[in-house]
Amino acid sequence: MPTPVTPRLTLRQMTDADLDDMAALLGDEDVMRYYPRPKTRHEARGWIVRNQERYEAHGFGLWIMHRTDTGEFVGDCGLTYQRIDGVDELEVGYHVRTARQGNGYATEAAAAARDFARDVLGARRLIAIINPRNLPSQRVAAKIGLEVEKHAVTASGPEAVIYAAAL
Ligand SMILES: CC(C)(COP(=O)(O)OP(=O)(O)OC[C@H]1O[C@@H](n2cnc3c(N)ncnc32)[C@H](O)[C@@H]1OP(=O)(O)O)[C@@H](O)C(=O)NCCC(=O)NCCS
Repeated sequence: MPTPVTPRLTLRQMTDADLDDMAALLGDEDVMRYYPRPKTRHEARGWIVRNQERYEAHGFGLWIMHRTDTGEFVGDCGLTYQRIDGVDELEVGYHVRTARQGNGYATEAAAAARDFARDVLGARRLIAIINPRNLPSQRVAAKIGLEVEKHAVTASGPEAVIYAAAL
């Protein structure tokens, strides 16, 4: 299955060679502010493996995001299935290195993931599960056309906001 390309970014499948970058990203206290705690290197390896299992099962998952011109690692972004209120939903997710936040990268990548969901997967609906205090993530969701739909109890927390849109 193809992976999205945007004006500035290439999204591609994670490999074991991405462990240093992913461990730095997921081990960063700011990036993981709305998670229970930063992830260890071992947990970052598990994150890569879980996404490799998603590629096998569905053809997509969270992808590595890097600058096309320099190859610089920017973060990850992509699509995963999440169970919300008993329904398997397609979710867009994104994490950007602290030093590279505020440059529109998450919005650019998430818009490409949304288009991929609609055009390649034929998905009819996309959601984002967001901590109510996570304003940057809510801005990204809104900028790609998702709107607040409801609150739900999820693995991410007891009162996640569910942003959603029909595609
Ligand atoms: C959420 C995240 C991916 C956004 O990445 P990014 O590349 O900086 O996002 P963008 O530059 O595309 O857009 C960020 C938007 O949030 C806004 N923003 C940033 N900080 C903000 C704050 N403290 N309060 C409100 N809005 C804020 C920016 O102004 C921008 O909106 P604008 O274009 O309308 O001005 C990044 O902050 C991140 O990695 N956070 C930690 C991981 C995370 O929470 N992921 C989402 C889990 S649901």
